[in-house]
Formats: sequence, C-alpha cells, structure tokens
Amino acid sequence: MPAATLNRSLVFFRSLKMRLTAWSTLVVLITVIIALVSVREALRYYLVVETDTTLDHEVRELLLAVEAHHPDRDQIVAEMRRKAEGHRERGWHIRWLDEDRRETIWASDNAPPQPLQKLLSSSKDYNVWGSNEFRTVERQLDRPGLPKDFIRVGTPIKFISEDVDRLTNILAPVGLFIFVLAPLGGLLLATRAIEPLQQIIRTTERLRPSHLDERLQVRGVGDELDQMATKINTFLDQIADHLAKNRDFMANAAHELRSPLAAIQSAVEVTLDKPRTAVEYEETLFLLHDQCRHLGQLVNQLLQLAHSEAGEADRHHEPVPLQALIEKTVEMFAPVAEERGVTLLATDVVPLSIKADGSQLRQLLTNLVDNAIKFTPADGTVTMASKRDNATNTVILTVTDTGIGISPEAIPHVFDRFYQVNQSRQRNDARGNGLGLSICQSIVYAHRGTISVNSRVGEGTTFTVMLPIGEGIV
Ligand SMILES: Nc1ncnc2c1ncn2[C@@H]1O[C@H](COP(=O)(O)OP(=O)(O)OP(=O)(O)O)[C@@H](O)[C@H]1O
Ligand SMILES: [Mg+2]
Repeated sequence: MPAATLNRSLVFFRSLKMRLTAWSTLVVLITVIIALVSVREALRYYLVVETDTTLDHEVRELLLAVEAHHPDRDQIVAEMRRKAEGHRERGWHIRWLDEDRRETIWASDNAPPQPLQKLLSSSKDYNVWGSNEFRTVERQLDRPGLPKDFIRVGTPIKFISEDVDRLTNILAPVGLFIFVLAPLGGLLLATRAIEPLQQIIRTTERLRPSHLDERLQVRGVGDELDQMATKINTFLDQIADHLAKNRDFMANAAHELRSPLAAIQSAVEVTLDKPRTAVEYEETLFLLHDQCRHLGQLVNQLLQLAHSEAGEADRHHEPVPLQALIEKTVEMFAPVAEERGVTLLATDVVPLSIKADGSQLRQLLTNLVDNAIKFTPADGTVTMASKRDNATNTVILTVTDTGIGISPEAIPHVFDRFYQVNQSRQRNDARGNGLGLSICQSIVYAHRGTISVNSRVGEGTTFTVMLPIGEGIV
C-alpha cells in the first residue's frame, strides 16, 4: 500500500468520528450482552425457585399423610405410590428415609440412586439435594411420638436447561441484530455529532490573516459547539480589529516619519543649491537638529508603545515607591513649569509602594504631566495626587490641570494613536506626535488598571489612573 494511502487510512481510523463510533458500539454491545445474559440467568433462577416451591408443596402433603396414617406403613406407602404415579410423566420421584438418612424405607422405582449431593441447607425449613440431572426437596417429620424420618420429592431438571435454551434461541437473533445495528447506529450518531465540527474546520481552513471576514456558523441550539463557535467568532473579531488598528498604525507611523524626513531632505537640497554663508549653514543645521530630535522622539515613542503592548511590563514587576516617583516627576518638570509660568504641585501623596514596572510607571506620569503643562496657559496649576482605595486594593493617581480642556467630541479619541485635538493650537515648541496618551493607556492595561479622562473646555482636565497595588503589599 502506498505510504500516502496508508497515512490517510490511519488518520481516518484515528478520527474522532471513528473513535466515537467504536466507543458507542462497544457500550451498546456490552449493555446488550449484560442484559441478555441477565434475562437468561433470571429465567433459570425463577424456574429453580418455582420448582423448589412446587416440590416442597408435595413434600408437605406427604408429611401430612404420614402423620395421618402412622403407624400404618402400608397405607402411607400406598399414598406415596399414588402421588408418584400421578406425576410419573413429569419424572417426579419420592424417597422415604429413616432419621439417619442411612436406610430407604420406601422409594418410587424412578428415584435416582443415592447418595445425592446437598445443594442447599435451606434457611427455610427444607433442604435441597441433587445432582446434574435431579433436584430434590427434603423435609423431616417433626411431630412428638413419630419417627424423625425424611421425605424427599424430586424431579429431573432437564426441563430447566431446555427452557433456558429455548429462551436463548429467541434472544440470540435479537442480539445478532443489535450486533449489526450498533456500529451503524454509532456511525450515524458520530456523523451527526461531528458535522458541526467539520463545518468549523472547513470555515477555519478558509480563514487567512489577510481575509478574516468569515465567521463560524452558530446553529443557535446553545450547545458546547455553539459556545465554542461564539468564542472563536469573538476572538476573530478581536484579531480583525487588532489587525485593522495595526494597519492604520503602520500607515500613520510611516506618515509621521515621512514629514520630518521630507523637511530634512528639502532643507539639505535647498542649502546645497548654491554657496551659503556661515549663518545660513548654521540655520540649516539648527533646523536639521530640530527635525532629528523630533524623529528621535517619535522612534522612541514607537518603541515604548511596542514594549508596553508586548506585555513586557509583566516580567519586571517589583515594588515601586509611589511617593518617590511623584517627587522625581515634579523635580523633572519643575524647570519647564517655571519657564511656562505654571505651578506644579503634588498633594495628598500616599506613602505606598505598588507592584509595577518602575520605568513604565515613570513614563506614564511623565506623559500625563507633560500634557498637563503643555496644555495649560501661564498662571495655571498642575496638581498630582494619589490615594489608596482599600475596597478594590487599588491606588488612584490623578493629574489635574487648569488648562484649555478637551471638547466632549474629542474625549473618546484622545487615547487613539496619533490623535491630536487641534494641532494648529499647539505652540511650536510643544509639537507632539499624538502618541503620549496611547502609551499611557497600554502601560495601564499591561498593569491591569484603568485610565479615564474628565475635562471641561476652558476650565481644565483631570486624568485618573487606577492601578492594582499587587499581592504581598500592605
Ligand atoms: N491635559 C490636557 N489638556 C488638554 N488637552 C489634552 C491634554 N492631554 C491631552 N490632550 C489632547 O489629547 C491629544 C493627545 O495627547 P497625546 O499625549 O497622546 O499626544 P500629544 O501630547 O499631542 O503628543 P505626544 O504626547 O506624542 O508628544 C493632545 O494632542 C491634546 O490635544
Ligand atoms: Mg502628550
């Protein structure tokens, strides 16, 4: 057999469908075999019990006869003979033994030879004796003044095995029928159970990273397969959304990188066009320096974004003292704030450490304070505060300014990458890339926290960050 065909047959036999078929067939067959054997054995048991009861009834009648006719032995024997004759065609036999069971006082001529094997010392008050061919019920005379003789009435038991065989003959074809039907039923069941799965496989085979429009069919029956299809569909939605965002991001990033590069290129070309004075060269160099700084900042921000989005924050979590971090941020921005005539304050700072990536947390505060100072005119105030929320075991950080504010239409977009409310309103030295808040958001998400904004145009803005304090910190 060629290797490919062999491989395909192996896959077929290992398939879920084949395994389901095999298992369901096995379970049905075992159940049927147990049921048929039980019915057969129940019949055998029932016949044996019935036989014992009937024989015991006869024995008791004979005991009564003995009691009635004692000591007239001939009369008793006549009674026994009459009974034996009455049941001769069924093969019933009678034996009258003395109290030691050594001597037979009388026996019908069809009685099996002695001794028989004791089959049952009855919890009732009779015994059962027998061999492979006979079953005999025995009782002892128990009347004061009478000998303690034993009376036995027995029967051949061939009819029991004959009846059981007859039943077996009826049940065997039924079993055989189920034997053939079980695998077919199992296959049908497995095919139906697997069909939705195969549909899922067919659909997922058609999915490509560049072609994520298709969704798995949800049949609406609410079973596990439906739940799985819904979960996969939600996941596909997220992937498609993520890919679309990444495409936009790439386009925006390329666009943002192109502008300073174009400015550098044209400045160099214009300068090289003809001989220039030293002052003109110096001016061009300043311009190049400015654009290079801008490019450097943009590349740094893109790297930070990639870093925080990769969830790398998770790997460097260590206790970070919040108070020191806020004080450092104030220290760092104090000269800029002073230059712009903005008061920078840190109030209500809780002396607390949280489990976080220290450098990312610093970046978060830097971006928020940078924005607050950038968008607050002279004489305004920027305030940093923090408090602990014991109920949720989080710390709440706020950066509030008395600046220009953000319009309600712009608020939903401020965390979008490259989004800037109104570029023309930004002072030239405050030119940004619209990436600061996206970086803040991905840092906060990487720390399993939340970030939100509250703002009124002309009155000011508050950014609120909630971060889990982390395990092991009290
Ligand atoms: N405190 C604030 N007051 C008013 N507007 C704000 C404030 N913070 C952010 N914004 C608005 O949200 C936009 C997005 O902010 P973000 O920090 O992402 O970008 P940016 O500051 O313009 O550039 P970058 O941070 O990349 O240098 C800003 O351009 C600004 O319009
Ligand atoms: Mg910013």
